[in-house]
Amino acid sequence: MAIDYDVLKEIKERADIVDIISYFLPSVQKKGRNYVCICPFHDDHKPSMQISKEHQTFRCFVDNIGGDVFTFVQKYEKCSFEEAVRKVAEIIGYDDPRLHKKAYVKPVDTNLVPVYNCISEIQKFYKYCLMTDEGVVAREYLEKRQISADQQTKFGLGYALQDGKMTIEYLKQKGFSFKNIEDTGIALLQTSGMSDNNAGRLIFPIFDKSGQVVGFSARKMTSGDDAPKYVNSPETKIFTKGKILYNFNNAKQTVKHDGYIYLVEGFMDVFALDSIGVTSCVALMSTKLTTQHIDELRKLNVEVRVCLDGDKPGQEAMMKIISQLNEAHLHARYVSKANELRDPDEILKQDGPEALKAYVNSLVDPFDFIINYYETTSPLGSNEDKKKVINHFVPMIARLKSSLDADNYIYKLEKITGFSAQAIRNLVEKHKSGQVVVKVNNKTDVICENNFKSVPKELRRLEIAENMVIEQMMVSHEAVQFFEEKIKYFYNETYRSLANFIVDYVHTYPNNEISPSALIDLVSLSSVENMEDIVNLLTKLSFRISTIKYSPDALKDCEKIITEERIKVYERNNLLKAFEGKSVQEQARLMDEYIKRTTKNGQ
Ligand code: UTP
Ligand code: MN
Repeated sequence: MAIDYDVLKEIKERADIVDIISYFLPSVQKKGRNYVCICPFHDDHKPSMQISKEHQTFRCFVDNIGGDVFTFVQKYEKCSFEEAVRKVAEIIGYDDPRLHKKAYVKPVDTNLVPVYNCISEIQKFYKYCLMTDEGVVAREYLEKRQISADQQTKFGLGYALQDGKMTIEYLKQKGFSFKNIEDTGIALLQTSGMSDNNAGRLIFPIFDKSGQVVGFSARKMTSGDDAPKYVNSPETKIFTKGKILYNFNNAKQTVKHDGYIYLVEGFMDVFALDSIGVTSCVALMSTKLTTQHIDELRKLNVEVRVCLDGDKPGQEAMMKIISQLNEAHLHARYVSKANELRDPDEILKQDGPEALKAYVNSLVDPFDFIINYYETTSPLGSNEDKKKVINHFVPMIARLKSSLDADNYIYKLEKITGFSAQAIRNLVEKHKSGQVVVKVNNKTDVICENNFKSVPKELRRLEIAENMVIEQMMVSHEAVQFFEEKIKYFYNETYRSLANFIVDYVHTYPNNEISPSALIDLVSLSSVENMEDIVNLLTKLSFRISTIKYSPDALKDCEKIITEERIKVYERNNLLKAFEGKSVQEQARLMDEYIKRTTKNGQ
């Protein structure tokens, strides 16, 4: 069972790592600033495990195992992280019944407080109206759509009275001005007065990620008229469509545990998945997936499972999302089922919960999705179409680690396009040779002074710059802010995950110093995939942290390097686009030009 982080912190404050390791191992001795002992994790004869009292971490330099007090006990006792925390509590005689996690409250811009208050009041009013005599139409509609009472509460559903002046009157009575009401986006002051745009509709409140209402979507309950199905709040000071994913506030509570998040089209799909127990689910609300959405998804650091409607527009949107998520290096799988044209809500209503469960678990990787897509929805007619498909796949295949996997896809491609496997393989090889590895240059060496002694020389320029930024983030909140605003994400997977944890930490504990050992606990408590790598990185950092100094100049240099390297990735993608429809000779010429260009910049 999950352990409350505050409790864990209290235990940690009381449990000194030197004492706890000494409890298990007799050989702990002081040596200089640190302590050393015989490492219990390999056949050790001289003390090769170091313990830092100052940073409360340990590390064995032979087998490269490290962590904090809890990680030590976890490894020594071969138990789960939570069990290790309990064990340490037991050793130091600490007892506490708290197990639930603390909610994190977002600080709010004071100018916006009246708007937030007003919109929260509107939501309360809509919920109340759902229970009135007039609200019976909405209650019947919800029953017809099989939206349970629990779901109505969880998603805060409501109803706006037919007479749109009633909402306004209620708000005026509560002391809100016309300006406050206009700022919420539900109405505009006109010569005829003010009237609620959502009148007579079923209300879906839209929450931001901290659970604050920021807008509404209002569904009509009649059919056969021309009125739009949904009336949506316009963009306001508190509602930016490109930033919001519907139900993110609820989903974020279960994603870490589930290890995935579903991305669906609409409200009804979120409800459908919710009713089969899939709570880690967000909806796009029919807008395009934006880079801000991608940033939000990235921070969760779990598998994204895209599940849009089975019809043609839904499948086309999925193709677009595949490119976006691939480009952003997000790990994702896609729901794909041949001849299924319905949306999740329709599958649930027509075939029942088991059918929907099977559907949402029909997950394929992007390759298979695209291949299925071309095989079923869009038979490849022209040569141009076929080349497009090839060009789509070549970079993806080039990135694969296993040549068996690569071959598998090459043969599938041969089957659907008719191009020979050999020709496709040649393109893949060419693409690979275009991936110029940039050597460490003099400038980077200067930046890396002091800090990079233990980083292998052959690390790529990008990785070195990313490492530098991570180090800066460990010692300065400004560096974290710089990362969030300018850099946004790392290519290196371990850095990327760690950066997410640091950002989360700084937002949750804005007044705390960033401590490697506190981060080790947060990482260990999560279910992130590359946990071991992140803990090892943090341990290394903890032994080096006192030598790292915050340097805005170094950060700017790193930003420049990272941006340059990303441009190269972008250029490579462009190169492949430029290949389209060109002869082999012409492609070779473009490739030559490209290599010249990139090596010139890179050195
Ligand atoms: P859908 O048309 O699939 O709606 O649009 P739905 O959620 O399945 O609802 P039902 O089952 O028809 O009642 C997907 C999403 O697109 C947005 C909504 O967010 C919706 O949930 N949408 C759709 C609009 O914003 N406006 C519209 O007019 C239609
Ligand atoms: Mn629907």
